[in-house]
Amino acid sequence: MTAQRTEGAPADGTEGSGTDDAAGAGAVVVHVAADADATRAYGRALAGVLRAGDLVVLTGPLGAGKTTFTQGLGEGLGVRGQVASPTFIIARVHPPLGAGPALVHVDAYRLGSLEELDALDLDESLEDSVTVVEWGEGLAEVLSEDRLEVTITRPVGGAAGDDLEHADVGPRHVSVRGVGPRWAGVALPG
Ligand SMILES: Nc1ncnc2c1ncn2[C@@H]1O[C@H](COP(=O)(O)OP(=O)(O)OP(=O)(O)O)[C@@H](O)[C@H]1O
Ligand SMILES: [Mg+2]
Repeated sequence: MTAQRTEGAPADGTEGSGTDDAAGAGAVVVHVAADADATRAYGRALAGVLRAGDLVVLTGPLGAGKTTFTQGLGEGLGVRGQVASPTFIIARVHPPLGAGPALVHVDAYRLGSLEELDALDLDESLEDSVTVVEWGEGLAEVLSEDRLEVTITRPVGGAAGDDLEHADVGPRHVSVRGVGPRWAGVALPG
């Protein structure tokens, strides 16, 4: 298994959008994203509060939109390469195009602990990167006391309902909560 891949393709440079609504640290901000583009747009908005050394833990069921959301984060941070599912690798490194942090996109399915991620000796250090861990449920505690927890769910009783064939269509609830001193007093976009 490849442990790491560094991306070389250019980012698409899509413009960001978001709201100026804010909530205090510890509060859960819930954003309703009507479709995949809206989930990406919210990722771009959230990238505005991220800086080097930050950890984002993404939870949500299969196909919830974790990778879609991370695509928006990558666009907002202005990093190189197309964000995709980190299949067959533990972590994919997207170097910054400008002066900002790199994006390290981690598949927690293949990761035992954050120590394991440190041991990979990535091209970018985690201190210089925004680290996004997909499917981080249960790992969060060992990752870092400072973390942004993002939970993506499909609202129950939505248009798609329990129809698995169409389960990928429809709105998502994106809940964001800052945990730890890093996030105290940080206004999160709504
Ligand atoms: N509102 C929405 N937000 C996000 N994705 C959506 C939305 N509506 C439909 N989709 C679709 O749902 C799918 C989400 O897939 P994605 O790979 O982002 O999920 P994931 O949570 O990363 O899955 P996995 O658990 O396999 O990693 C995509 O095909 C996307 O286009
Ligand atoms: Mg994914």
